[in-house]
Amino acid sequence: VNVRLRHVHPADYDRVTAVIDDWWGGRPMAARLSHVFFTHFRPTSFVLEDDGELLAFLLGFISQTYPEEACVHFVGVRPDYRRLGLARRLYESFFTAARASGCAWCRSITSPANLESIAFHRSLGFRLQHGDVVADGVPITLDYAGAGGHRVVFLRDLAPREQAASCGPPVAGGLQIALEQAV
Ligand SMILES: CC(C)(COP(=O)(O)OP(=O)(O)OC[C@H]1O[C@@H](n2cnc3c(N)ncnc32)[C@H](O)[C@@H]1OP(=O)(O)O)[C@@H](O)C(=O)NCCC(=O)NCCS
Repeated sequence: VNVRLRHVHPADYDRVTAVIDDWWGGRPMAARLSHVFFTHFRPTSFVLEDDGELLAFLLGFISQTYPEEACVHFVGVRPDYRRLGLARRLYESFFTAARASGCAWCRSITSPANLESIAFHRSLGFRLQHGDVVADGVPITLDYAGAGGHRVVFLRDLAPREQAASCGPPVAGGLQIALEQAV
């Protein structure tokens, strides 16, 4: 396969909307998908394609409030392309973009029932943030995403602790759109 990585562009909004419910096992996710990632967060959002066919995507942003914090909103991989390292590859690209902008850590969230996502994030070195309750060894933050929107919150340092402590403000103009490379 000729898998290629690139930043999202606005036309990807419809392509991701068309598959996201299916990729999340039938959960209604499309309504939660905002076009702003495909227009305003392109430097920190990526897709992987094979010959123009969508295989995986990651939508992320850098916090405007906490410039050292990078956040992943959604990451998804086509079901028949899982366990091939595609999501890991997307995260690595996101980490690189976030570090280039001065970020020191990354935050991601998932639903407590999403055991695959929890295993995946643990495997990438994320630690689970303390929550309000613990279920089956997993700390859960209650109502994180509104009433009933319980979530598991993951954090991961982007640099060794001694470097992270001395990280400065974001580097202006540090992000590049012109990225297209084979993986
Ligand atoms: C979670 C998800 C993004 C992982 O994508 P992926 O491309 O299959 O993940 P990778 O191949 O990069 O996996 C990297 C490592 O994570 C761990 N991992 C990934 N999926 C796992 C699973 N289902 N069970 C246990 N461990 C898993 C493994 O350690 C894996 O390494 P290995 O395959 O060498 O053992 C994918 O399952 C998915 O799209 N799920 C539906 C959408 C979703 O829940 N997104 C996350 C919340 S936004």
